[in-house]
Amino acid sequence: MIIYQEHAHHVTEASFENGFFDGWPNPPSIATFIRILQNSTHVILAVDDQTGRVVGFINALSDQILTAYIPLLEVVPSYQGRGIGKELTQRMLDKLKEIYMVDLLCDPDLQDFYANLGMRKAQGMLIRNYAHQSGKLE
Ligand SMILES: CC(C)(COP(=O)(O)OP(=O)(O)OC[C@H]1O[C@@H](n2cnc3c(N)ncnc32)[C@H](O)[C@@H]1OP(=O)(O)O)[C@@H](O)C(=O)NCCC(=O)NCCS
Repeated sequence: MIIYQEHAHHVTEASFENGFFDGWPNPPSIATFIRILQNSTHVILAVDDQTGRVVGFINALSDQILTAYIPLLEVVPSYQGRGIGKELTQRMLDKLKEIYMVDLLCDPDLQDFYANLGMRKAQGMLIRNYAHQSGKLE
């Protein structure tokens, strides 16, 4: 069974299933990943209660008044297709339901996934500083 945990207080490098940041050429280390989770305004972890390991997550950054941004959602490949990504997103959108602007960026092939959860398509702008894809140095 998958359980959903709304904090990342006690996670360690051993807490994570293999496979996060799939396809990233220069991914954050697990230690940096933990800092990302712990620095986020909101985080929801999906944990396999059989293994005790985190198999998926979503985070949000927010001013907690008007705006929130969902930068990351991922389910490790071996756990995809079981409804975990949908559940994580629904739970995060519910946490943010009193926030006026809830934004995220995604590739076109994921727009239907988010549209099915009540979001609508938009246009945006971005910068990616690829030299820092693994995270800003402390
Ligand atoms: C996107 C992602 C989080 C989906 O997680 P998942 O646990 O495999 O998805 P679910 O099993 O919850 O799928 C829920 C529904 O969305 C559908 N779906 C999944 N991926 C989809 C996609 N790329 N496009 C459209 N629909 C999709 C599923 O078919 C399912 O439909 P159903 O409810 O009718 O059965 C996962 O594929 C992933 O981690 N991808 C790599 C990272 C990524 O792209 N993250 C998003 C960044 S914006």
